[in-house]
Amino acid sequence: RRVAILVSGGGSNMVALVKSMTGDHPARPVLVLANSADAGGLVRARELGVEADHVDHRPFKGDRPAFEDALHARLLQAEPDILCLAGFMRVLTEGFVSRWQGRMLNIHPSLLPKYRGLHTHARALEAGETEHGCTVHEVTPELDEGPILGQARVPVLPGDTPDLLAARVLEQEHRLYPAVLRRFAAGDRSRIDLAA
Ligand code: GRF
Repeated sequence: RRVAILVSGGGSNMVALVKSMTGDHPARPVLVLANSADAGGLVRARELGVEADHVDHRPFKGDRPAFEDALHARLLQAEPDILCLAGFMRVLTEGFVSRWQGRMLNIHPSLLPKYRGLHTHARALEAGETEHGCTVHEVTPELDEGPILGQARVPVLPGDTPDLLAARVLEQEHRLYPAVLRRFAAGDRSRIDLAA
């Protein structure tokens, strides 16, 4: 299976995914694609020997479908079977999702269905949660809504700040996403739950 990974920032999840796709793993990374030229993940992808490119979203300001057409066209060149959104910070419309649905995964830093959207760690702390975590799900047109393929949980500790909690969750993201991708690439969509 051919996997393309979409990133916006440093790409630590992308690195974990790329490093997991070795040996008898059913998938290989064929492209890392960012929405800006200065995404740190592009440098890290090239260091790992993976083709990396970007489609800048800014020239398409206000015309989201046009940006998504450019993104789609670039992806088709790599002929991926699976898309992994990994710290990809652009909302994708129904138009794009419908062309990849069933073959597109995302990782979200909360225990969905709790805390869809942004600033999940601060919101969990404000709500007094004693547990938090991350979720890998299939991408559907509804933001952070699709079928859950895996979750990993972490404790919220006394004195936690959003940054401390985010770091604890990120560690689990790097375990969960590769575990889910390995199964998904082998055709297994059964849900997994990792304890910290
Ligand atoms: C992190 O906040 C992570 O929780 C979320 O996207 C952000 C960047 O991740 N998935 P990455 O280091 O670019 O993979």
